[in-house]
Amino acid sequence: MYLHKIKIGNVEINNNIFLAPMAGITDVPFRVLCKEQGAGLVYTEMVSSKGMFYNDKKTKKLLEIDNSERPVAVQIFGSDPKIMGEIAKEVSNYADIIDINMGCPVPKVVKNNEGSRLLLDLPLIDEITKEVVKNSKVPVTIKIRKGWDKEHIVAVEVAKIAEKNGVSAITVHGRTRDEFFSRRC
Ligand SMILES: Cc1cc2nc3c(=O)[nH]c(=O)nc-3n(C[C@H](O)[C@H](O)[C@H](O)COP(=O)(O)O)c2cc1C
Repeated sequence: MYLHKIKIGNVEINNNIFLAPMAGITDVPFRVLCKEQGAGLVYTEMVSSKGMFYNDKKTKKLLEIDNSERPVAVQIFGSDPKIMGEIAKEVSNYADIIDINMGCPVPKVVKNNEGSRLLLDLPLIDEITKEVVKNSKVPVTIKIRKGWDKEHIVAVEVAKIAEKNGVSAITVHGRTRDEFFSRRC
């Protein structure tokens, strides 16, 4: 395997093996173990910007970080650009990178216009990325799917918007929202 150092914005990362964000899985102990085993960058579970905004205790717990896991990317999700910006300002006081979730397919997220639902609203992606980048003191990245369904493959358009707004890196989950987790990439 070809290992190399990588830089996202001003964050130097030892190697190009990243632990993907996984809700219910990538908590502090899991991330620390992966770091010990050599992961270059680890991601938190996705964290609701609204949950943080309204001071939800369970949401706050998802934001715990152990210094041994740095650099760590905190993944936030939401659909309100102003709330996302506010939360980015706060999270960037302790995260090394802020990642925006634009790929979660689950109905309870999608019905709030969050996660992968953003892929059907490119102007909203424009606003959210602008607000988050403007308010964050650390590099901002996004994680998308290639599109909503095979009629709406938008990865390239989203990448152009992200680049224009100063997003530092993009991760693409090579499935559409329609494909959830099962169809081959
Ligand atoms: C249990 C589980 C939870 C996940 N949670 C998140 C998440 O919180 N945020 C996110 O961006 N992706 C999440 N994903 C997607 C993964 O990060 C990854 O993009 C996806 O599983 C594709 O990789 P694979 O084909 O190796 O499974 C999750 C995946 C799984 C299986």
